[in-house]
Amino acid sequence: MKIAVLTSGGVAPGMNAAVRATAQAAFARGWEAVVVENGYHGLLNGDIRPVKRHELWGLVQQGGTALGTGRSSEFEEEERGKEKALDRLREAGVGGMVVIGGGGSLAGGLELHKRGLPTVGVPATIDNDIPGTELSIGVDTAMNTAVAVIDRIKDTATAQRRAMVVEVLGRDSGYLAATSAIAGGDDATIVPEFDTDPQELLDLLNESYEKGKPRFTVVVAEGASPTASEFCDFINDAGGGYQADLTTLGHIQSGGTPTAFDRILAARLGASAVDALADGASGTMVGLSGDSIERVPLEKVVGEKRPLDPDLYRLAGILSALPD
Ligand code: F6P
Repeated sequence: MKIAVLTSGGVAPGMNAAVRATAQAAFARGWEAVVVENGYHGLLNGDIRPVKRHELWGLVQQGGTALGTGRSSEFEEEERGKEKALDRLREAGVGGMVVIGGGGSLAGGLELHKRGLPTVGVPATIDNDIPGTELSIGVDTAMNTAVAVIDRIKDTATAQRRAMVVEVLGRDSGYLAATSAIAGGDDATIVPEFDTDPQELLDLLNESYEKGKPRFTVVVAEGASPTASEFCDFINDAGGGYQADLTTLGHIQSGGTPTAFDRILAARLGASAVDALADGASGTMVGLSGDSIERVPLEKVVGEKRPLDPDLYRLAGILSALPD
């Protein structure tokens, strides 16, 4: 048996650890492994090569993805692109596929499965918006990165008596913002899933300021309304006596050394994906459910979004304790 491993879409720390675990688990079964470079784009180009055990040395702690990622509109939008991808895999003698990535990547995996190639998905995205898994690979690292930066920003905010508005990644998901706000002890969080009235929030900040609170940190998800930039301008335009500054964390969060948690999750999911192929499963995703790794049909995952837990969002509000 020869399997192929591909990483695709947005970068998530721990993707390398997942590739390593997948290949190691294949080798442990006496299988061969090939890697696809540059995601679906590379797949169509035939960027497929065998991977040797020594290439996996040192991979577990590396950020990014050594395979590269790449989206392909030809693969996504055209039947011809999908057939081309399958031809490339058949030419390489591939009998099973492990796709590591977010929603778009898993959708591609489902298409390969539907056309007869045994395919298993491994969720890896810092957005944590994939249904069927409590956590995706990369979320823990991205959250820790955000919190470490927010801690530093707070030092400056306190010294200068300012309001710091921090934009975090997450696309349309507020998970990273809400959890970073809880862990960072921030004053407010604005997420796409719940409405925020900018004036109401500003009133709370102002009331706290008048009672002596020396600084504020507000964490805003990139897909939220108002955006971080709009809310920062809103504070400054209101002229409430303190200055607001904007920090956009951006791709700082998608890079970096994966945490031990992400490496272990990647190891478990990568190895479980190989187990699934060995069991003859296809069109399935492996995901974290409590302490277990479970298999979820890709049909139930693709096109769906994991909702933000309202209790988590509520907790962020309770802990902010404004206006005291
Ligand atoms: O979906 C993962 C993610 O990192 C999002 O949080 C972010 O919006 C997006 O990808 C960034 O994509 P790109 O690196 O292609 O700009």
